[in-house]
Amino acid sequence: MNRLTIVSIIVTTLLFIGCGQNGQSNSAAKSEPAKSETIAEKATKAVQAVKESASSAVAKTAEVAKKTTHEVTETAKKAVEATKEAVAKATGAPSAKFAKCAGCHGKDGKTKALGKSAVIAGQPKADLVKKIKEYKAGTRNVAGMGSLMKGQVAALSDADIDAIATYISGLK
Ligand code: HEC
Repeated sequence: MNRLTIVSIIVTTLLFIGCGQNGQSNSAAKSEPAKSETIAEKATKAVQAVKESASSAVAKTAEVAKKTTHEVTETAKKAVEATKEAVAKATGAPSAKFAKCAGCHGKDGKTKALGKSAVIAGQPKADLVKKIKEYKAGTRNVAGMGSLMKGQVAALSDADIDAIATYISGLK
């Protein structure tokens, strides 16, 4: 019985040290505070390391997800553009509408109309839509030929303008 009591006291003390708690109030051994501190430190460091690796893993995952989303979006955008172009080509509508523009701007849109306009091929679609709508409204006149252009685009609907702008923007 006596032995058992001693053993259980030792075990209890060891557990106490192991927990690393309240080392100072236990005056039984001087090495205890240092030991429990080390264990506590180790535990803190381990927790810190786990935290760090977890958060960096989360950050990496987020980055990868972002990149993937971006790539998918870009690919989808390109596919949509390609489809639009293919449809436009198949129906022939925008290029047919562009035929009368080609007389001055060139078949490929790269001629400076009457030596006065800017090259329209490849301009951003939004810019082309804006410019054509301004000519239609009679509010654009860059080289003194605004009224001539107004006559050219007067009959175009918003849908026509959109289609033609897409077509001209795609001329490279
Ligand atoms: C008779 C010749 C002629 C025809 C046909 C013509 N244009 Fe023009 N275009 C011009 C001239 C000249 C200008 C410059 C007008 C100015 O002074 O602002 C111009 C300017 C433009 C511009 C602005 C360019 C820039 O960046 O400043 C666009 C866009 C344009 N034309 C589109 C068209 C479209 C679309 C058609 C057909 C529906 C067309 N044009 C038909 C002569 C023509």
